[in-house]
Amino acid sequence: MTDLSQGTAVFVAELIALAFVCLALSSIFWSTLTLGISPMPTSTKVKRELLALIPAELEGEVHELGAGWGTLAWAIATKCPRARVIGWERSLVPFLFCRLRLGVQRRDNLSIRFGDFHRADLKGAQLVIAYLWTGAMTRLGPKFEAELPNGSTVISHTFAWRGKQPESTVITADLYRTPLYRYRIVRS
Ligand SMILES: C[S@@+](CC[C@H](N)C(=O)[O-])C[C@H]1O[C@@H](n2cnc3c(N)ncnc32)[C@H](O)[C@@H]1O
Repeated sequence: MTDLSQGTAVFVAELIALAFVCLALSSIFWSTLTLGISPMPTSTKVKRELLALIPAELEGEVHELGAGWGTLAWAIATKCPRARVIGWERSLVPFLFCRLRLGVQRRDNLSIRFGDFHRADLKGAQLVIAYLWTGAMTRLGPKFEAELPNGSTVISHTFAWRGKQPESTVITADLYRTPLYRYRIVRS
């Protein structure tokens, strides 16, 4: 290959890479606008506090509503090998990242689904994890009450489920004093 054609090939490869980066950033930006939240990952300190609330022997389904880059989904699937962790994600780039990550960092008890968590069937869930926003928690409240089984748990990172008394609240020793709310579904 001549110097000129080699230079052209490198230039074209750089252009293609740049186009992919721009597409990925636009997709994340668009999802953030339409969904109302970015795929901001949970910090290491909050993850540690949240994991401490989950027993390692937990069995049954764990639904993570909005898995992002998989920060919590992988951590929970690793800590709780007998649980079946299902991460829901509707933003394409984080979802594709998680699917690629599953190929590299396999967890037999973890699956990542592309879709709206409002459509998730929570009837078999033992635990639901959410790091969303106030409006999402307000909308999800009636779904939790209608579908979650007696004795199951909801842990919400940062945003409270308004109108529901938490069983416990843990304040993380970080800059934002991030709260973790734990709710129990109790049916009479
Ligand atoms: C703040 S991030 C949390 C990421 C991850 N759970 C963590 O703690 O590291 C919230 C995620 O919820 C996703 N999301 C928002 N609305 C959604 C919906 N209706 N269905 C599925 N995912 C959604 C966003 O795309 C985003 O990745």
